[in-house]
Amino acid sequence: MVKAKKMKRILVTGAVGQIGSELTLELRKRYGAENVVATGRKTKPSDELKSSGPFYFIDVTRRETVEEVVNKHQIDTIYHMAAILSVVGEEKPQLCWNVNMNGLYSILELARELDMTRVIIPSSIAVFGPETPRDNTPNETILKPRTMYGVTKVAGELLCDYYFHRFGLDVRGLRYPGIVSHETLPGGGTTDYAVAIYYEAIKAKRYTCFVRADTRLPMMYMPDCIKSTIDLAEADLSQLKHHSDFNVGAMSFSAGELAESIKKYVPEFECTFEPDHRQKIADSWPSSLDDSAAREEWGWKPAYDLDAMTRDMLEALAKKHREGRL
Ligand code: SER
Repeated sequence: MVKAKKMKRILVTGAVGQIGSELTLELRKRYGAENVVATGRKTKPSDELKSSGPFYFIDVTRRETVEEVVNKHQIDTIYHMAAILSVVGEEKPQLCWNVNMNGLYSILELARELDMTRVIIPSSIAVFGPETPRDNTPNETILKPRTMYGVTKVAGELLCDYYFHRFGLDVRGLRYPGIVSHETLPGGGTTDYAVAIYYEAIKAKRYTCFVRADTRLPMMYMPDCIKSTIDLAEADLSQLKHHSDFNVGAMSFSAGELAESIKKYVPEFECTFEPDHRQKIADSWPSSLDDSAAREEWGWKPAYDLDAMTRDMLEALAKKHREGRL
């Protein structure tokens, strides 16, 4: 029986990334700025991220760089957000394996050796593949991805669950859908069009989308993404039957519906569709997720639907634009 312990000092890897940057700030609010150590590899952190608490450059593929920060700050919990996403993963499969698998292995080993309280490792809809049922995709189903990113995410889920059962390490993870946000741009994913379209709607009033209009994928707005991550991290361990592989749904829309939703608020917006190599990846992923395991085991419930997200995104980006920050 694995005993739940209290999270005290947190390390976030990938803290300069799309999710990590907002997650770190929220964790600092909740657990105290000094107790949440942000790390990145190369990209400069925003002023807010840097000035609001500790920040270090590390490389998750070089274990000693992680270990140094872990020891210095007596870290007991890791949110391991550093990863190579699907599109870059297809351009550089070897790099994707190295970062996503060897990086993950170092984090898990460090956590096991130091008897850490908890490790949070995100997974993705990329674990699914063309043979998976596409609509309302169940939590337990065929996992035969065709991307290197997906391969590392399936292997990662299995490895994380292995550490739970074999070593009693409290590892938790969720399968994020495409994440939409307005603070930090995503880097190298297939679902990036769902973010870029809002930026271009504000900046240029037009956007050329790299998937077909009828491409329907599961998506989630950043506030729900942060909430799902922290809710799972704080969930009562005794209630969890799954550990590293929770489906989390929020909304599901086609690229055409996304453009229509924007047009309601920006009537002059024009979107054209010119599918490229990323279409094939999108076609291999589900259109919507059955997230009943997350709802039952830790009370998951999203707050944003497509129009609520569109209103919020456009408002936030219009403000940034007015202030010359876009
Ligand atoms: N958003 C990711 C990607 O497109 C999926 O997890 O690669």
